[in-house]
Amino acid sequence: MGIDTSCKIGKLQLTTPIIAASGCFGYGTEYSEICDLKAFGAIVTKTITPQPRVGNSTPRIWETPNGGMLNSIGLANVGIDCYIKQKLPELKNYPTKIIVSIAGNTISEYGEMVEKLDASDVWAALEINISCPNVKEGGISFGTNTRMTQDLVKICREKTTRPIIVKLTPMATSLSEIAKVCEDNGADAVSLVNTYVGMAIDIYSLKPRIATITAGYSGPPIKPMALARVWEVVNAVSIPVIGMGGICCGEDAIEFFLAGATAIEIGTMIYVEPNIAKNILNDITHYCTLKNLVSTSQLAGLFLKTREFNTTCTISG
Ligand SMILES: Cc1cc2nc3c(=O)[nH]c(=O)nc-3n(C[C@H](O)[C@H](O)[C@H](O)COP(=O)(O)O)c2cc1C
Repeated sequence: MGIDTSCKIGKLQLTTPIIAASGCFGYGTEYSEICDLKAFGAIVTKTITPQPRVGNSTPRIWETPNGGMLNSIGLANVGIDCYIKQKLPELKNYPTKIIVSIAGNTISEYGEMVEKLDASDVWAALEINISCPNVKEGGISFGTNTRMTQDLVKICREKTTRPIIVKLTPMATSLSEIAKVCEDNGADAVSLVNTYVGMAIDIYSLKPRIATITAGYSGPPIKPMALARVWEVVNAVSIPVIGMGGICCGEDAIEFFLAGATAIEIGTMIYVEPNIAKNILNDITHYCTLKNLVSTSQLAGLFLKTREFNTTCTISG
């Protein structure tokens, strides 16, 4: 019997719970011939800003010796008007849902972008990026401030009825509080983690590995930290949580589901294996069969049940 891989994130219905993370899948078209798009329930396109951006100076990517990645792209993108006119229409007949990622310098810029986007019927949901560590304005400074998060989610909510996902930074001290603010102001889901702030120095040239000195750290080494932050947020909100950070195989993905994530996003590892979603989907369904589950959505309950059982044992013993 086939495993039901469908997944519901608020009103957003996906055929699989695997999503391509923003910034790691271009504008959506670049990978179409080198991977099985249908393995992805959705793809999140590169974060778009009100104006085109060339991004930060180079070097802006560095692969760390432990299999991680430092990047400081600085949200290089074509800008919202070109995106709506040229990039979005190319995704019209895609076999997967399109999630649009946006970031502004000010709260009102976020609202204006949502208003412009709402005229297009190509996209299914929004991911509001309040967590980029590589830009001077907006980005992480919004995602670490409860008041700004509140105003920002509120304004986006007023401008569209389509599902809103807020992408959070793991660098926020009060992450649960930020996630709760998103929920209370109308977000349909939260996604996390964006990159951690990291840094590396070439000890021979005495130069920073990345021109902006600090950068976003991603890939397999961040997985345990990302999983802990997802677990924290799952326990703080009732809306769906989309988990990501260092996922490189089926086992990693399953851990996020067990921790309570409704769906997962894959970022850095897409660069290593563009067809990774298909492999992960196979591994997840195989695991479900082993555990006698009929759907991937049943995974979320498994770990919680074990914990309740263990707690009972400890108390009664
Ligand atoms: C090169 C690169 C560019 C990224 N660009 C964006 C972006 O434009 N918007 C965004 O929300 N996240 C961006 N991210 C963050 C990823 O979407 C993801 O949150 C993060 O890398 C953690 O997941 P991973 O370890 O699977 O990569 C970028 C990551 C990388 C490596």
